[in-house]
Amino acid sequence: MWTRIQLAVSGVSLLLLALPCMAADTIGLCVGDDMRQRLHAEMRDLLGAVHGVHTALAERDLEALSTRAAAAGTAMAGQIEKHAGSHHAGLPHDFVKIGRATHAAFDDLATLARDGGADGELWPALSKVSGYCVQCHAKYRLALPGDCATEDEGAGR
Ligand code: HEC
Repeated sequence: MWTRIQLAVSGVSLLLLALPCMAADTIGLCVGDDMRQRLHAEMRDLLGAVHGVHTALAERDLEALSTRAAAAGTAMAGQIEKHAGSHHAGLPHDFVKIGRATHAAFDDLATLARDGGADGELWPALSKVSGYCVQCHAKYRLALPGDCATEDEGAGR
């Protein structure tokens, strides 16, 4: 019992120690307010899609799975690009690439489900999707607006 509590406590302290380093390892992106809101809205949709896919998998409802995954596929990215006009303006090429790969992985999952894929194929396809979420979050974050204002002045804008 005590060992468990001690383990939990040391786990938490390790996490707290690691947090600042993790933040320092990520690249802070400077985006405008509009893009920040759009990005966060897209992210919440993506999380909703992952949840929808999990639920459909649990119920083995392949039609629902296909619909949910397709909605987060390249069609979603296309809509956002259309509405935002210069949606990707100022975002690093690699960031955009991982984003596109994420939507494409949702497309693959949707196709698999539509073709009646077996669990042994569907789970790895979903894992590929969440792998991209992790990959991008491990690399990028949004910079604090205050940090960006200074950079903008420095760049003479
Ligand atoms: C191409 C990069 C990229 C990919 C891929 C990506 N994210 Fe994000 N995500 C971000 C960034 C950047 C933020 C903003 C972090 C910040 O505010 O510092 C974010 C924030 C979020 C948030 C918080 C939203 C909020 O309102 O605060 C959620 C939830 C999220 N992502 C879920 C996901 C899920 C689920 C996936 C995969 C299906 C995913 N993301 C894929 C870059 C990405």
